[in-house]
Amino acid sequence: MKTIRYVLWALVAVAGFGLGALSLDLFGTQQTVSGKAAIGGEFSLVNHKGERVDQTIFKGKPSVVYFGFTQCPEICPTTLLDMAGWAEALGTDGDKFNYVFFTVDPERDTPEVVADYMSAFDPRFIGLTGTPDEVKTALKAYRVYARKVELDDGDYTMDHTAAVYLLDAKGDFFGTVAYGEQQQNALAKLKRLLPSS
Ligand code: NI
Repeated sequence: MKTIRYVLWALVAVAGFGLGALSLDLFGTQQTVSGKAAIGGEFSLVNHKGERVDQTIFKGKPSVVYFGFTQCPEICPTTLLDMAGWAEALGTDGDKFNYVFFTVDPERDTPEVVADYMSAFDPRFIGLTGTPDEVKTALKAYRVYARKVELDDGDYTMDHTAAVYLLDAKGDFFGTVAYGEQQQNALAKLKRLLPSS
């Protein structure tokens, strides 16, 4: 059931983007700026090395961005494994992207926990956490849904947006890769972000 819920949220996120584009097209007003500018903004967080960082980490290279939590049983590790696979499949072009994970669970995901988690996927991955307020601000800026769900055993899990975000080299929102999307589709999207040589 948990998986279904995640996938539903991924679909909601993707449908939202799709509808946004559709409604703009329907009126033919070319107001395409609004759809992209609405996602992203200022934040202040701590990376997995314990360094304070902000939205300027997205400047200079396109970015592959994911929002999740280290104790996620399935969707997050699957997606991060996919991201590591894309990075690998891109070969030398893989170094031309930032790979950034934002935790949606700052209470449990300390920089140390995030550092351990990132190292399990790819040494190039950057993990971000912060105080609950700092994380909330970042998630709001990127229009990411995240909600704590209490479990029967007193523990909790997190419901959250499951799509991977792609940002261009200016840090502006470019698009998404849906949960479970085929690698060749994902790679085609990533390659559109590379400067044509
Ligand atoms: Ni997850």
